[in-house]
Amino acid sequence: MKKPDEKIIKRVKELRDKINYHNYLYYVLDNPEISDAEYDRLFDELLNLEKQYPELITPDSPTQRVGAPPLEEFKTVRHAIPMLSLNKANTEAEFLDFHRRVKELSGLSDREINYVVEPKFDGLAVELLYQEGILTIGSTRGDGITGEDVTLNLRTIKSIPLKLMTDNPPSIIEVRGEVIMNKDDFEKLNRERLQHGEQLFANPRNAAAGSVRQLDPNITAKRPLRMFAYGTGRVEGIQLRNQWECIHYLKDVGFRISEYVKLCYSSEDVIAYYEEISSIRDDLPYEIDGIVIKVNDFEIQHRLGELSRSPRWAIAWKFPPQQETTKIRDIIVSVGRTGALTPVAVLDPVRVGGVEVSRATLHNEDEIIKKDIRIGDTVIIQRAGDVIPEVVKVITSKRTGNEKIFRMPDTCPICGSKVERPPGEAIHRCTGMDCPARIKESLAHFVSKGAMEVDGLGKKYLEQMVDKGLIKDPADIYFLKKEDLMKLDRMGDKLAENLLSAIEKSKKPSLTNLIYALGIRNVGYHLAGVLAKTFGSIENLAKQEIEDLLSVHEIGPVVAESIYNFFRNPRNINILNKLRQGGVVLPREEITTGERPLEGKTFVLTGALDSFTRDEARRLIEEKGGRVSSSVSKKTDYVVVGKDPGSKYNKALQLGITILNEDQFKELIK
Ligand code: IVH
Repeated sequence: MKKPDEKIIKRVKELRDKINYHNYLYYVLDNPEISDAEYDRLFDELLNLEKQYPELITPDSPTQRVGAPPLEEFKTVRHAIPMLSLNKANTEAEFLDFHRRVKELSGLSDREINYVVEPKFDGLAVELLYQEGILTIGSTRGDGITGEDVTLNLRTIKSIPLKLMTDNPPSIIEVRGEVIMNKDDFEKLNRERLQHGEQLFANPRNAAAGSVRQLDPNITAKRPLRMFAYGTGRVEGIQLRNQWECIHYLKDVGFRISEYVKLCYSSEDVIAYYEEISSIRDDLPYEIDGIVIKVNDFEIQHRLGELSRSPRWAIAWKFPPQQETTKIRDIIVSVGRTGALTPVAVLDPVRVGGVEVSRATLHNEDEIIKKDIRIGDTVIIQRAGDVIPEVVKVITSKRTGNEKIFRMPDTCPICGSKVERPPGEAIHRCTGMDCPARIKESLAHFVSKGAMEVDGLGKKYLEQMVDKGLIKDPADIYFLKKEDLMKLDRMGDKLAENLLSAIEKSKKPSLTNLIYALGIRNVGYHLAGVLAKTFGSIENLAKQEIEDLLSVHEIGPVVAESIYNFFRNPRNINILNKLRQGGVVLPREEITTGERPLEGKTFVLTGALDSFTRDEARRLIEEKGGRVSSSVSKKTDYVVVGKDPGSKYNKALQLGITILNEDQFKELIK
């Protein structure tokens, strides 16, 4: 075997330091400085040298994260200091009770007690033992006294340093934290599992826990896990005086800590923090289920002491749960604008995350089959933010045998036309062109913002108009007379006149708005703008062949076909003619060189703007050629920040992305 010379030894060390550093930038700070390819080159060079000179391999080398063989079973590890659990508060009053007890027991006043607060991560608690700065044992919390030795698995998690980033490590430090999986990584993992016919994980926490407690570390290595450090166990060789110092020490030596840790100087501060985190909860990439509040000073912590399983110096203030258990009374089917049939569960009403829920979408037939959802089932439902509630899973142990299997209907529940499921699609569609449900939905779309923008013509009126036979298609709106409108419930003279003048005003749409209003399948507002700019008029767009449409940068085969088919359907041509007859001006636009000063720019919106809704702001940006994305990344050009911004704002600050307040945004789009 060759002996490595000084140069090689030096290079190996250099490579390790570099790789560790870039790992840290990528996995801990989310802010890489080199490309994946460059990283791979460094990694391969190190692998190569270690292959030539195996004696240079050290356990803390970044090459040694993976490759360990599967275990028969986990050994157990006794925690030097028990990993306690937390008492819970569900309300502000319960938090204030805790605060009062802390004051009483410590004999301190309000102003003398500071708290460190941070999100409560919904994952799996682990402990990492570092001896002389090197990771030697990693374990799960287990029952708090003993856990499982999952060292080999935890070593595969890149945000866990194998070696502390300090030249002067303590002789012993046990780092505690939570292993989590991000929401989008969880979705992706479940999609892959579905494809492979594997059991799905119920939520990101189960996915994280299941991945850490794998006997084969090579499987764990493939799972996108992360760790947030939030405290320590045994520490020897350094003095940490309080939680704030502790958490920042962990950050300094290479751990990922929450970007939301905060030092609070009063109970009011804590309450404000709870509100703040509640409001951004849904924007976070990972799940949290509350906040954790810890007395900052370790000496005071010590004075307060512990009960049998939980400390008196900390509490978890939980958010109202976003999942609840309820029963499916019935499954009904709703029909959308494109004729898509969506099965909807009718539920025994329950409060979820502060909102009463009585319906949940079941998406489509495949979803019902996959989750084996039956009428009468007891289910877990979930809502997050503004998203429509959905059924997470069935609690099969609650089945009585009286549950009924649901089948998608063969005929439309609204108009009785035949229902079809086109090959390769998951969606059933009503084939009836005159289906009132389709007509109502497409009318609502036709008059909406960004489309024909008929102010005041709400869904309630449109439904009545269809039911009373006043209109059958969007163009009929332009033939309505005052006496027609007077036939509607809750309609008065003045209101009817206002509506007529709003209809009149809508007769001069921009080409983009008109194309969008037509409701061509797969053509949203952005694409409508592209079509307007590329083809200049409805007449010109209508005559394009599939190949012509495909030559447009943003159009693929599916979209090309739906545009092509739309204009080959006599019914749609008839509507266009009727619109013209009804006085709508079919506009022409300059081809290609419209004012698109924001071409190629990506925006992210966060917080509430005073002058526009989200949709309006999006439309303004798209009109000028820009794009709106839902998450901040290095590719984002601008983050527009309104009132009460979410975590996207912090992310933008971190990544150094240009931030616009409302006035600056208005200036830009002027
Ligand atoms: S501190 C004695 N901080 O909550 C207090 N725990 O019920 C030690 N958890 O199993 C815990 N996020 O896994 C702390 N920011 C956080 C946390 C957190 C989640 C979990 C932890 C533990 C449970 C305690």
